[in-house]
Formats: sequence, structure tokens, C-alpha cells
Amino acid sequence: MKIFVDNKELEVSGRRVLIEELREAGYDIPSLCYAPNAKHHTSCMICMVRNEANNQMIPSCSTIPVEGMRIDTSSDDVIALRRTAIELLLSEHKARCGGCESKAKCRLRDLALRMKAKWTRFAPLPPVEPVVREHVTGRLWFEPAKCIRCGLCVYNSVDGFTFKGRGFGMQVVIPELSKKNIDERIAELCPTGALYMV
Ligand code: SF4
Ligand code: SF4
Ligand code: FES
Repeated sequence: MKIFVDNKELEVSGRRVLIEELREAGYDIPSLCYAPNAKHHTSCMICMVRNEANNQMIPSCSTIPVEGMRIDTSSDDVIALRRTAIELLLSEHKARCGGCESKAKCRLRDLALRMKAKWTRFAPLPPVEPVVREHVTGRLWFEPAKCIRCGLCVYNSVDGFTFKGRGFGMQVVIPELSKKNIDERIAELCPTGALYMV
């Protein structure tokens, strides 16, 4: 089927979410709570694009394109919305990057830098505090202060990670009894330094 992206025609399968179709065609669509071939729940709003038919911003990670759809991926409005989404995440981020061992793999930091997001737009930088980390299993560790509650670990581990609480108080917890069943490779899905291997 045919859709229009930034006023250019694009042939898509119509069977995959928009973000996959767009990325395959070379569009740079950022994501944090979405990863290819993984279960996810739309939450970060970093992948937003504009549906020109009704001027609504829509998450490309959970939208299946329809014939003739017109999508804007790169206008100032779209970029500004993504930047605000990042800045909101940063305002709740309880860790600083200086000394963070996960800088190299952290997609949150990478996107914040690439999108020139302001780290202190909605909240001051958190105070420097001792690292609190929890051993999960094998080489896998969890640092709650670096979790953005994207849910990728929760939705892609069997009986391992789970959410406790709601809203701003929601946090990832790992029941002690299920730790031994967790596959260390879940760290690869985590978009921050919250889950990492040493
Ligand atoms: S997890 Fe990412 S954003 Fe958070 S402190 Fe580490 S490098 Fe910075
Ligand atoms: S630990 Fe990582 S993968 Fe799990 S919810 Fe937090 S940021 Fe997402
Ligand atoms: S990547 Fe689409 S909402 Fe997070």
C-alpha cells in the first residue's frame, strides 16, 4: 500500500507498525519503550509522528499504517514534542551520567544529546548519591535510579520483572524467587543503564 511521509510517497506492507516501515525506508525515528521483535507497551512518546489527516500526534510504535495515510516525521512541532517527552523522562531520572558505567549503551542519554534536550527543564539535576544496585542473577545488575519504567523488561521476561505501584510511584521490582530464572540478555533490551551486565 501507499502512504506519504514528509510529502514523499512510500510503499509499505501495511502489516507492520509504522516505526518499522519508516525505519526500513531510512527515516530516523527514535524509540525507548519499543524494541524490534519485543513485546512493548506504548509509554515513552519518543516515537511520535503527526497524522496530517487530523493533525494528531500518534505513536509510530503502535500504529499500523492505512492506505493513503499522510505522515509528518520531521516538522518542528514533531521534534519539539519528542524533545519534551525526553525532558520529562530526564526530570524523573534519579541518576547523573558522570561516572555512569552504562553511558556507552544508554539510549536515553544518546537521544537526549542528539535532540539537544535540556536536562533541567522540568526539574533540577538530582543530587549525587551513592549508587544503589541490586544483584539479579549471574552478571546481571539492576539500578532502580536509572529506570525509566519503559516496561521492556517486564513484558519480555517470564515471571521475572514486575511493576509495583502506579503513576509516578510505579517501580520495577524483581521477586527474589524468580531471579534465578531470568535471562541476563534482558539487559540488551533496557534503554538505560538500569539493567546491565558486569
Ligand atoms: S543510565 Fe543513561 S541517562 Fe542515566 S545516568 Fe546512566 S548514562 Fe546517564
Ligand atoms: S529496568 Fe530498563 S527495561 Fe526495565 S523498565 Fe526500567 S528502563 Fe525499562
Ligand atoms: S517508542 Fe513509541 S511510545 Fe515509546
